[in-house]
Amino acid sequence: MERKNIAFYNHEFTTLDNVRISPLDRGYIFGDGVYEVTKVHDGRCFALSYHLDRLYRSMRLMQIPATIAPDELTEIHGVLVEESGIRNGSVYLQVTRGTAPRTHTFPAGIQPNILMFVQEDNPHKQELAASGVKVITLDDIRWEHVDIKSLNLIPNVLGAQQAKKKGADDALFFRGDELMEGTSSNVFMVRDGIIWTRPADERILKGITRQLILTKVAPSCGVTTIERTIDREYLAKAEEVFITGTTTGIAPVVQIDKTIVGDGKPGPVVRKLQERYAGLMAEGLP
Ligand SMILES: Cc1ncc(COP(=O)(O)O)c(C=O)c1O
Repeated sequence: MERKNIAFYNHEFTTLDNVRISPLDRGYIFGDGVYEVTKVHDGRCFALSYHLDRLYRSMRLMQIPATIAPDELTEIHGVLVEESGIRNGSVYLQVTRGTAPRTHTFPAGIQPNILMFVQEDNPHKQELAASGVKVITLDDIRWEHVDIKSLNLIPNVLGAQQAKKKGADDALFFRGDELMEGTSSNVFMVRDGIIWTRPADERILKGITRQLILTKVAPSCGVTTIERTIDREYLAKAEEVFITGTTTGIAPVVQIDKTIVGDGKPGPVVRKLQERYAGLMAEGLP
């Protein structure tokens, strides 16, 4: 068995190339499923219990029955990470509603399909965390329940691709004048030394990295945080801007469309947060 390629599908460990998914899996047909991505740091899962809490919430809101216990998922994460030999990367986990002849309503008596595998970190992301990222801005054309981490990521995929085409690293979504989040990240700004971010309601994903910054990292740096909506005018007054996510960590934003943020270099607040966040990862978090 090629270790890096290890996967878990329904009740067994296998390799990714051996997983056989039916074309009638509702994840494939409808995007009818949810997912999580958990960071692997130094051979251990980071903040896994936070990710599992969010997974069960997503499943509940999608009315996908929980057929596996969190303890079992924790154990499978551990086996995958250990067997893969991957020290720094992430575990991908998705749960679809199951496999059944195609019809929109929920078929009776189907079992969710659970797929998990491990991926290595992209070294490019670490460089971006050091040098800062450029972002473009886009209209948020997503539905109104993006707090559910569902498989339906087309606006995110198209947004990320559009950013890439324009030589940027991510896109920030706006609903009208209001800043939401990135295509796979939450967004924060610093003004008067205070950290501002949008409240987490149905219109953004309640990111785990975001949550850890608000509850642990910023307080331990002695920096005040305020959850408040941010419009374009307010964003333009930012001293610093940064995006956060499980695989991104904390990345300073140095340019938004054609506008340079601050002096165009990662600022002191984001540097301090990055340092504390690295410390938290080294300590570990269940
Ligand atoms: C749309 C969106 N927002 C925010 C995030 C950041 O969430 P987390 O910190 O839990 O990775 C993600 C992560 O993939 C995302 O897809």
